[in-house]
Amino acid sequence: MKDYTNLLCLKLQEIHKPIEKIEFKITMEQIRIDLNRAIPLGLILNELITNALKHAFPKKTMGKITISIKKLKDKPYEVIVQDNGVGLPADLNFKKTDTLGLKLINILTEQLDGTVSIKRLPGTKVKITFPSLKK
Ligand SMILES: Nc1ncnc2c1ncn2[C@@H]1O[C@H](COP(=O)(O)OP(=O)(O)OP(=O)(O)O)[C@@H](O)[C@H]1O
Ligand SMILES: [Mg+2]
Repeated sequence: MKDYTNLLCLKLQEIHKPIEKIEFKITMEQIRIDLNRAIPLGLILNELITNALKHAFPKKTMGKITISIKKLKDKPYEVIVQDNGVGLPADLNFKKTDTLGLKLINILTEQLDGTVSIKRLPGTKVKITFPSLKK
């Protein structure tokens, strides 16, 4: 997951070229995850990181995107994508939206038997947790 996330960030940043002052901070161990769950997880990361690059820094100023995946012993996986940008629009209901990206994140999290929570900081923090053992 770590190698994948590093590469994903690099490629997504290339696509969003005008934003050059975005610093990525990736913290995770070398986590290996079975393919059935790595695929939805990879797609979720893609949506969240793309959103941060696309929406969080409209003025293309300096910004930071933090990504972490934690797996503590006998605990669920904890995935966090956080930015210090403008924050989600006040009227946006993350769980009930017609926009494709957020819908996809909710559906893919369900596939992982997980839950999504968001925090409106000065920026945006999305946390996804999902159980470590498949039922
Ligand atoms: N990290 C973020 N910072 C600020 N606003 C955000 C962030 N992530 C999402 N948003 C807001 O939430 C809206 C919905 O996001 P969503 O990913 O569902 O759609 P989208 O990115 O506009 O289109 P797409 O279907 O291509 O993902 C965005 O249009 C944007 O206004
Ligand atoms: Mg999106």
